[in-house]
Amino acid sequence: MNDKIVLITGATGGIGKAVAIALAKQDFTVVIHGRNRQKTEQVCEEIKATTGNDKVDMIVANLFSLQDVRNMANTFKQKYKRLDVLVNNAGGIMGKDRETTPGGIEKTMAINLLAPFLLTELLLDILKNSNDGRIINVSSNSHKLNAKPDFDDLSLEKGYNPLRAYGNAKLFLIWITQHLSQTLKQQGIKSITANTVHPGAVATNFGVESNLGAVLNFIAKLARPLFKTPEQGADTIVYLATSGEVNNISGKYFVNRKQASVTETYYSEKTEKAVWNYCMENTKVFRS
Ligand SMILES: NC(=O)c1ccc[n+]([C@@H]2O[C@H](COP(=O)([O-])OP(=O)(O)OC[C@H]3O[C@@H](n4cnc5c(N)ncnc54)[C@H](OP(=O)(O)O)[C@@H]3O)[C@@H](O)[C@H]2O)c1
Repeated sequence: MNDKIVLITGATGGIGKAVAIALAKQDFTVVIHGRNRQKTEQVCEEIKATTGNDKVDMIVANLFSLQDVRNMANTFKQKYKRLDVLVNNAGGIMGKDRETTPGGIEKTMAINLLAPFLLTELLLDILKNSNDGRIINVSSNSHKLNAKPDFDDLSLEKGYNPLRAYGNAKLFLIWITQHLSQTLKQQGIKSITANTVHPGAVATNFGVESNLGAVLNFIAKLARPLFKTPEQGADTIVYLATSGEVNNISGKYFVNRKQASVTETYYSEKTEKAVWNYCMENTKVFRS
């Protein structure tokens, strides 16, 4: 019997759903997150039926809202006193025009960086109740291909384009994961690891509904037949959630179950700290 509890964000489709199914098959208690109640309920029932695991629960939150992230963490903590694996999977690329959340945050940064940052901060106390707590943040190879941060304009008020915003947010997600991992080590907390992963190019709903502009829309359509299946895309995440081989490995970036290099362009302790501070500042009122 497996008594481990996993929370997976963005598990109503694509990679997140495939991770949820794989872990439900391994008898985890699986809490799936979605933003649409009806869709999330349907997926929850589908996972129970296909895996025979009744320990599948759900939670609804729109991750564009930091208040929703906070409510989600509170709801989870009211029901569960321990969290073994947190998979911050929800994310995506936005459209060709810059958009902000009702809270005034650029949407790519909101979903790919600030939501996972805040959710992790708010759930750290119950991750500490696990003797093998694992945080898995889903990043992307796009951090190498498309990131071009301006540290005076992290929210891209100038020079926004969807690929740049996405590459930046996924690069910053790697940095805050490294930073958290380092902080946990400095605090002597050995029971929690935090790593990032690139799932590969995967045929999901990713980018399908974003109006990236005619050229990018065309390229995405053309390349789709070459992509991995969601199950293949889920593989390294499931590996990081379950394997004994990564028990004590933290602060690393994984591709195809192997540690991989992160781009060093733009990196310094100072830039990593600047991004950490940006996250702290923008989530301040929701952490207290
Ligand atoms: N697919 C790829 O090629 C690829 C490559 C590298 C990295 N990734 C990363 O992998 C992760 C999973 O992506 P995917 O390919 O599985 O994409 P997907 O099929 O679009 O799934 C994204 C999930 O996130 C949820 N989501 C999106 N915006 C949300 C919001 N504002 N609030 C709450 N939930 C929200 C979606 O909910 P709905 O079902 O309601 O839309 C869905 O469950 C993402 O972080 C993505 O950046 C993907």
